Amino acid sequence: MGYKSLPMSTVKPSEGKDQLFSPEVKVEIDKWIAKYPEGWQQSAVMAALRIVQDDNGGSLTRELMDKVAAYLDMPPIAVYEVATFYSMYEHKQVGKHKVCVCTNISCMINGSDKIVDHLEKKLDIKMGDVTEDDKYSLKEVECLGAVVVHPCSRSAINTTRI
Ligand code: FES
Repeated sequence: MGYKSLPMSTVKPSEGKDQLFSPEVKVEIDKWIAKYPEGWQQSAVMAALRIVQDDNGGSLTRELMDKVAAYLDMPPIAVYEVATFYSMYEHKQVGKHKVCVCTNISCMINGSDKIVDHLEKKLDIKMGDVTEDDKYSLKEVECLGAVVVHPCSRSAINTTRI
């Protein structure tokens, strides 16, 4: 049984989609929807969440996730599952520069705790916090998919905050 035949069939296409997002956001989401076969707009959920997150200054809210669900004719729970699984989605405000440190087993046994200590001291914040000037945030992640170069951290500039 495929994903499409599961809860999707119980969701009625939403009306009033034009009111959900700004024209600019809709154009961006629609570009992604157009990459998939007709009726498979749910496949654009990851891109839609990223676009909406960027438009909101770097984080998602439940209301925004619900709007994505309505726009893509998905059950909200299916959108929450994606938005809470991947570490690239934020559910609270982050700094202009987001520094992620992997503390999973391979990185942990190769010294990720030292990186965490160093960053916490250097930035004078704890993991999960944002610096007072809003420039940096620290985030613990489970795996950055780069175990071979452990311990592993990644930083990203939140382009919406520049
Ligand atoms: S365990 Fe650290 S990057 Fe995968």
